[in-house]
Parts: sequence; structure tokens; C-alpha cells
Amino acid sequence: MSTNRKTSTMKEIGKEHPVEYRREVLKPLFDCIIGAESCYLIGAGSMGKTRILDHMIRSDVQNDYLKERAAQTLICRVDMNRLSDYSEWEFYELMLFTFIQTIGNHEKDSLVKLSANLMEKFLLPVLDQPENTIRALRFLELAISNLMVEDEENSICFLLDEFDEAYRRLPAKVFAHLRGIRDTHKNRLCYALLLRNQPARLRPQMKEHESFYELFSRNVIPIRAYTSKDASAMISQLEERRNRPIEEDETREKIYLLSGGHPGLIQAIFSLLLKLSEGNSDLFDPRWLITQEVIREECRKLLESLEAEERAWLVQFTREGLNGLDPQVRQILQVKGVLIKNELKTRVFSPILHLYLQQ
Ligand SMILES: Nc1ncnc2c1ncn2[C@@H]1O[C@H](COP(=O)(O)OP(=O)(O)OP(=O)(O)O)[C@@H](O)[C@H]1O
Ligand SMILES: [Mg+2]
Repeated sequence: MSTNRKTSTMKEIGKEHPVEYRREVLKPLFDCIIGAESCYLIGAGSMGKTRILDHMIRSDVQNDYLKERAAQTLICRVDMNRLSDYSEWEFYELMLFTFIQTIGNHEKDSLVKLSANLMEKFLLPVLDQPENTIRALRFLELAISNLMVEDEENSICFLLDEFDEAYRRLPAKVFAHLRGIRDTHKNRLCYALLLRNQPARLRPQMKEHESFYELFSRNVIPIRAYTSKDASAMISQLEERRNRPIEEDETREKIYLLSGGHPGLIQAIFSLLLKLSEGNSDLFDPRWLITQEVIREECRKLLESLEAEERAWLVQFTREGLNGLDPQVRQILQVKGVLIKNELKTRVFSPILHLYLQQ
């Protein structure tokens, strides 16, 4: 089994998170990967989606979830922010480049060699001919097949991060080809999409992507705010990174309650803590907090990540309660982690956001 695979060049500043970080998301995600089932992960803006990927490419985390399959499971993280014009060629080239780069970081010598080989045979000729779409697609397919024959136990998961805009803008043919690639390697290849919004809403013309959509539509993994344990891990990391130790445990608890465990809001409150003393009561007063630009910016970003209809729903909810509001929208907002519902009550997950919406 692989124990020290080099999967990332990123170095965490401050204490690394424990392996169990985000287990509520990573358990179902790795179960999908083990079963070669595609899925999508959905969460509102700055809910920590990309952070989960930083964590899951760690070799100790992969070993923990994948056990003996870890060495033969290639997790390939593709960042859609690196696309600029959303053309077919550009998308296949990015997939091919990232795939070859990921293999090159593997601890197995045979894979490092394969990576160099694939780069020479497939990536360089693709780069030589921008806009030769069919070449980029076929070479991506060939590169994947090369990995599949290297060891018949090898499998791949493509993690497609920041996929909202790509889902809206990529040419429809891309989706048919992604389906085709998966069908060629059924039971050995899957996709996991990281999204802020529901795929069917991003691309209302279902005919354009139906065969791709069917792969993951039933496997939804919500990404909600942090549990108190994960929020503590994040706060400890900020304390180290910013060299600002917190003196009272109560302060950490208050940051958690006010932010509702939203990483963006935790970060914003922490940035205020750098300027004020822990004893300053303003810091823990939601009415003061929502006057601060860093906090307002975080609330704005979160709301902008939602559909217009969901924003309007939330505003009405915080002002007038649930009466007459669409229960379907409520359900989506729960999946995205913006609303929390228990037997007694539905509420906005953070008191700061609640107050911001009420204004
Ligand atoms: N555990 C953590 N420790 C330190 N910083 C964190 C942690 N989790 C999240 N953050 C910070 O919080 C912010 C939001 O996290 P992240 O970018 O992962 O969210 P996201 O859901 O991917 O956002 P978007 O919807 O914009 O893609 C980032 O600045 C990130 O660095
Ligand atoms: Mg992100």
C-alpha cells in the first residue's frame, strides 16, 4: 500500500487538520470513488469546498478512506478556474495536462515514467496544435487508456472544482464525450463535480447534458458549515498562521456560534480580532459585526453564490417567517447549508447572515 505518495506540492501553514476533518463529506465521497460512481458536491459560496480537496489529496487521508485501494486510485483534481474561453480544446487540454501531472506526482516509479512518456507522446503534440479539438480529445482518451492498462486494478476519479461556470458555458459536446469516456472505463472511472448551484439549474436545457447528468444526479453530497470540531481546527490554524493566539476558549466558541461554522465568516471575524482585544464586546455583537466591511463582503459573496430566487426567499424569510414560502427552495437552501432545520425550527445558519438579510 502507498504510504507516502506525493500528491500535492502545497504546504499547509500552521497545524495540519486531523484526518477526520470533514468526515461527513469525505466518507460519502470516497464511497462513491470506491464504487466508481460519479457524484456532485454542493455548497454555498466560501463554504469550504476547495479546502476539502486540499485535504483529500493528502496521502494519509486517502489511505484512511481507500485502504488497500489507495495505491491504485488516482485522484485527479482539475480546477476550472484555469479555463478562460471554455472551448472544447481548452477543456480537454486542461484535463490531459492535470491528469499527466497527477500521475507524475505518484510515488510509483512506473507511473512517473508513464507520465513523462504521456507528456511527450500526447501533451506536447496537443499544445502544438491549439484548436485541434479532436486531437486533444483522442489524446486525452489514449492517455487514460494507458493508465488503465498499466495495472488492471487502476481507477480514476476526476474532481472538477469550481464547475458552475464550466457547466453553464462548455459546449454541449463536452458532456457527451465525458459520458463516453466514463462508459469506456465503466466501474473504473468517475467524476465528482464541486458546485455552488444545482446542475439542472445551471443548464436548464436538459437535452444538452442528459447522458452526463444521469451519471451523478442521484448522488448528491451536501457541503454545509463546519462542525464545531472542524471550526476549532480552522481557528487553531488561523491562530498559528497569523501569530495571534486566542486566550479564552470562550472566544473560539463565540466565533463558531456567530459564523455558524462558515469558513469565510470565521476568517472575517478572525481578521477583526487582529485589530481588537478579545475583551472588546463589539467583536461578539452581530449588530456591530454587520457594519464591518470584511463581514459585509463575506455575506455579499455568500448571497451572490445563490440563485436570485433563493436570495429573495431568504430575505422574506428573515423578515416575515416561513408563511407562504416555496418549500422546494427551502429544501435547496438546506442542502446548500444556508438553512438549518430541526423538529422545532428553521433558521439561517449564522446569526450574522440573518441580521444582514433583515436589514
Ligand atoms: N480549515 C481552514 N483553515 C484555514 N482557512 C480555511 C479553512 N477552510 C476554509 N478556509 C478559508 O475560507 C475561505 C473559503 O474556503 P474555500 O475557498 O474552500 O470555499 P469554497 O466553498 O471553495 O468557495 P467558492 O464557493 O468561492 O469556491 C478560503 O479563503 C479558505 O482559504
Ligand atoms: Mg472553491
